[in-house]
Amino acid sequence: SCVGAMPRGAFIVFEGLDRSGKSSQSQRLAASLKDKGHDVKAIRFPNREGPLGQLIDAFLRKDIDFTKRTCHHLFSSDRWEKQCEIQAAVLSGTTVISDRYAFSGVAYSSGAEGLPLEWCKNADSGLIAPDTVFYIDVSPEEANRRKGYGAERYEKLEIQRRVYSSYMHFSTQPYWHAIDGTKDIDSIAAEVCVKAEQVVSSVAASDAPVTTLWD
Ligand code: TMP
Ligand code: MG
Repeated sequence: SCVGAMPRGAFIVFEGLDRSGKSSQSQRLAASLKDKGHDVKAIRFPNREGPLGQLIDAFLRKDIDFTKRTCHHLFSSDRWEKQCEIQAAVLSGTTVISDRYAFSGVAYSSGAEGLPLEWCKNADSGLIAPDTVFYIDVSPEEANRRKGYGAERYEKLEIQRRVYSSYMHFSTQPYWHAIDGTKDIDSIAAEVCVKAEQVVSSVAASDAPVTTLWD
């Protein structure tokens, strides 16, 4: 790469069942990396504030219904709308941390809605690929014991069991890092932070190009 060129930022994704603790962990990581002087941009999917996100929010609260395939495309479109923003941030040297991404789309639409997995993957094919995925691994039973699920669509033990097994489709991928989500919050945060810093430095050092799903 040319002398003085900005090393690119990493794209880090958190995945896991509802109540796995992934939202807290993604916030913790964003704060820790900022403390260490990194430029960080924290995002989440679904992004409930945007125009598509409002439809998704109403869908999750069961205020409106969509056919299974439409809801899958809504979640996917929400990600497509953010691609330029993610790309610009990463290329300018900012580390992007996302709470959920296309892996949720595949795990929930195939697991909870019963849609064919390959069909689900197609909608997200070509999205910017993360450099690493931290899968906060908590069993559906453990997640359910925490404070019980809420009232949103999919927040039911039997549904989460199916989502959990769909997530396992990704478990052998090189970017997939399962983290024991039953440990205490601080140890998980410490483990994630060490691994994330390795990813941030190796991405910067190797000047690895941005790749796309599902390579
Ligand atoms: P949240 O609890 O992280 O706000 O996510 C909202 C719900 O939407 C959660 O049950 C997971 C589900 N979901 C999908 O079904 N498809 C997707 O593509 C995403 C990002 C989330
Ligand atoms: Mg939730």
